[in-house]
Amino acid sequence: MTTYTDEQIKQMDHDCVMGTYARLPVVLERGQGPYVWDVNGKKYLDFLAGIAVNVLGHAHPALVAAVQAQAATLMHTSNIFYTIPQPRLAQKLLAISGFDKAFFANSGAEANEAAIKLARKYGKKDGRTDKFRIITAQRSFHGRTMATVTATAQEKYQKPFAPMLTGFDYVPYNDVAALQKAMGPDVCAVMLEPVQGEGGVYPADPAYLQEARALCDANDALLIFDEVQTGIGRTGHWFAFQHYGVTPDVMTLAKALGGGFPIGACLATGAAASVFAAGDHGTTFGGNPLACATALTVLETIEKDGLCTHAQEMGRYFLSKAQSELGAHLKDTRGLGLMMGLELTQPVAKKVLTAALERGLIVNAVGETTLRLLPPLIIEREHCDEAIAILKDVLAEISGSFVTGNS
Ligand SMILES: Cc1ncc(COP(=O)(O)O)c(C=O)c1O
Repeated sequence: MTTYTDEQIKQMDHDCVMGTYARLPVVLERGQGPYVWDVNGKKYLDFLAGIAVNVLGHAHPALVAAVQAQAATLMHTSNIFYTIPQPRLAQKLLAISGFDKAFFANSGAEANEAAIKLARKYGKKDGRTDKFRIITAQRSFHGRTMATVTATAQEKYQKPFAPMLTGFDYVPYNDVAALQKAMGPDVCAVMLEPVQGEGGVYPADPAYLQEARALCDANDALLIFDEVQTGIGRTGHWFAFQHYGVTPDVMTLAKALGGGFPIGACLATGAAASVFAAGDHGTTFGGNPLACATALTVLETIEKDGLCTHAQEMGRYFLSKAQSELGAHLKDTRGLGLMMGLELTQPVAKKVLTAALERGLIVNAVGETTLRLLPPLIIEREHCDEAIAILKDVLAEISGSFVTGNS
């Protein structure tokens, strides 16, 4: 298919693309279902799915057909015009979420940017100028734009770009007392991931989200859930908030929404749904016909194929098998549905990632000790078995050399 070698591509990338990514040494060329192949023809089982994006796997026929059909009909118009796919996608998202209005963006950071702007405007609704404080959680991840990196309470992402925006305060995740202490009438929003992804796959305690809801209500602040990673079936429900019975005022989505096509969304309900007026916010590409037609097909396929329930079943199967097969190497397992974290007993997560890749399995490491697994929702038991068999070999080998000091 390609006329370039592996080395030529890496060199070209190195020479021409800004070095913002520490890439793994693999040039991927094509995919099919839960598998991808590199330019040398080597096959990999993809348990990362483009970081929780390819929910339908690779080259899903329905998605390919949707992209082709819409590209041949109308690809882009700008938001100066009405188009058919955008309100259709909005209607579907509202139906599955119970929310009232949608705004479309192009990425998770942009969806969060919209939510932050919405919250800041909400804080001004009674003519107030002092209600702009936004509380987010330590270990969070909300994106790389200036507002979203400010919301992301991790020094490593903020330091090179200081100063951050004013008006953000950070609290430890799942700490009710800290949230109570930080809250006040000058807060316009609390922004949380229902399961922290980048931070190490930590699900929220139900009592924490319930208290966040109560505190927002008491202080007339918006509760924003960043469901960029947890949304669209990943956790075994359409949205993670549906596990908790705690409904936010604003929810952001991206990643899986387009199944691989870039799209983000900011959904709002109740008073939050009517904050934005014409001219308040916008984007040239946001909600374009190609992105929306593709995303609508993702939602329809997940629904038709029962992939939310399937994600619950596969997640349960994987984690219970991981506990029995890999138990000696695991301190803990965490997750919801197919958003899974394996906490290792030794700080070898990056070594496991590299060795697994060599054996044809793609996983992710967050920190020294956590493996993050985000496979496509279409995986079957055989794929779980295949991944666990590779991890078992790799962990046995690495922990042997770790114990004997040969690492
Ligand atoms: C919870 C969460 N929010 C926001 C983002 C940013 O999304 P994007 O990379 O599409 O800007 C991510 C990306 O990993 C994420 O996991």
